[in-house]
Amino acid sequence: MRRVTIWGETSPWLITRHKDARAVLADPRFSADATLPGFPGMRPQAPPRAPGQFFMMDPPDHTRLRRMLIPAFTFRRIEELRPAIGRICEELIDTMTADGSGSADLVESYALPLPSLVICELLGVPYEDHDFFQRQSKSISSLASGPEEMMAARKALHAYLGELLALRMKEPADDLVSRLATERVATGEATEAEAVGLASLLLVAGHETTANMFPLAVVALLRHPEQLAALRADPEAWPGAVEELLRYLTVVHSGMRRIATEDVEVAGVRIRAGEGVVVALQAADRDPSVFADPDELDIRRDTSSHLAFGHGLHQCIGQSLARAELQIGLPALFRRLPALQLAAPPEDFALPASSVHGVRALPVTW
Ligand code: HEM
Repeated sequence: MRRVTIWGETSPWLITRHKDARAVLADPRFSADATLPGFPGMRPQAPPRAPGQFFMMDPPDHTRLRRMLIPAFTFRRIEELRPAIGRICEELIDTMTADGSGSADLVESYALPLPSLVICELLGVPYEDHDFFQRQSKSISSLASGPEEMMAARKALHAYLGELLALRMKEPADDLVSRLATERVATGEATEAEAVGLASLLLVAGHETTANMFPLAVVALLRHPEQLAALRADPEAWPGAVEELLRYLTVVHSGMRRIATEDVEVAGVRIRAGEGVVVALQAADRDPSVFADPDELDIRRDTSSHLAFGHGLHQCIGQSLARAELQIGLPALFRRLPALQLAAPPEDFALPASSVHGVRALPVTW
């Protein structure tokens, strides 16, 4: 564990060991409130505290807002979404293969639209608005756009979600926006701005992460043909393979950022109140004391303690949905396109250092 300089005078502690990462992320003496002075954020400027964006809040605000989304991610709800996810995957593959060229960019035709359409399904975005929603969510993702385009898309999406919330207030359906409207906003538990913030947080947090997992997972499997062959022979092994891919790729690369609100000792080092920490999940998930030969992809290994979804209070709320998307979307791709191959080195398309590890395109043939 050592201090690193990220910008200006700010030099948080960099946490790389699995044990220390878990200890910090589970400790309520570390705050996620990015507006606190000295917070080791991504940029010197603290981001505005937007209503509903609870990932940078502490209890009790964090608890109150996070709780409002829990019913959307129960085992039963995710099981109910599986058929829709399967249908979306098949339709995307139909469209991708329709021109008969036998080639495509997997990011553009599969990895970006898939999570966005699944979030449409979860929120209850009407079918006729899917194109609009998809265009905005693509622009919000840094894979595809610059900062101005991103801001404009965010604004358009907020306006759209505000209208959808108002509509569902009058005509509720069986979806998350309706439940936020009737059970939270109408009861005064949440403001309209918070409900819009919650809905848009799902898109921001759930889109780019999942969208990057797909192409990187495809590359990893194509580069380990013996493991891909094992999956083809035994499709029951897919859930385990998805967990290993989550560990091996640990796509959230920006570090979980926190600030100590009291003096805390971690691994024998005293972190003083007001000092920041950056927990590098990608390093913790390759800690050799937990995962033997950590740089090897091994779909049969025990991955139960991987930290790809974080740990503690802020652990990913959408993890069961992300798992369902990967468990359905990856096998569908390899089943429908058995001769899938890379058409160019993925390294040529690496995203510049960003919060999520990934590629901006992945040309493939089949
Ligand atoms: C939080 C990873 C998919 C919604 C997180 C965190 C990680 C993560 C590491 C913890 C952040 C922290 O501790 O500061 C991932 C990965 C995904 C994924 C690797 C895909 C493979 C999703 C999906 C959704 C989602 C599909 C929703 C549709 C969220 C939300 C939070 C979060 C709302 C904030 C939770 C809180 O602060 O309490 N995610 N995520 N994520 N994730 Fe995910």
